[in-house]
Amino acid sequence: MTENTPSAAFEAAFHKVAERHERIWMFLSLILLSLLMAGALFFVVESYGVVVKTEGYQTHPAEAAADFTTQGVVKTGPNAYAVHMLAHLWAWTPSPVHVPQGAEITFLVTSSDVLHGFEVQGTTINMTAVPGVIGSVVYTFQHAGTYNIICNEFCGLEHQNMLGRIIVDPAHGA
Ligand code: CUA
Repeated sequence: MTENTPSAAFEAAFHKVAERHERIWMFLSLILLSLLMAGALFFVVESYGVVVKTEGYQTHPAEAAADFTTQGVVKTGPNAYAVHMLAHLWAWTPSPVHVPQGAEITFLVTSSDVLHGFEVQGTTINMTAVPGVIGSVVYTFQHAGTYNIICNEFCGLEHQNMLGRIIVDPAHGA
């Protein structure tokens, strides 16, 4: 043993102190991390809640689904219709839907399971079908014909086959 080598006793004492300090700092960092995560969680829940805060048009997905399947297409005025469109894995109900050319169509759209995308090809209709939320979009088909409803929100295995049809019947005298 040379003069510069610490004695075994000193080394042992040093390690004991160093390990105690390490344990203290590890413990403190765990406390700090926990506080940070709890704080972040608190402020997120405080600001946004754990559910979608949309009173009024938010329903229970199953209730909305039951309503929708019984309502389908409803005449709401002389030249106006409401179409209750339910998105579900992996189809649109009802389909096909018949609406008249030139009428004001209000699409009420919801989902009974996961997010779907309600897009009607060849139109500007494009919105997300959200479970528990009834979205609406108003559209008038100027031309008769068959329009495809496609799902543009990835929703699982059969997403790409989730097709629906809207058949726009020619207006009387057109
Ligand atoms: Cu429904 Cu993609």
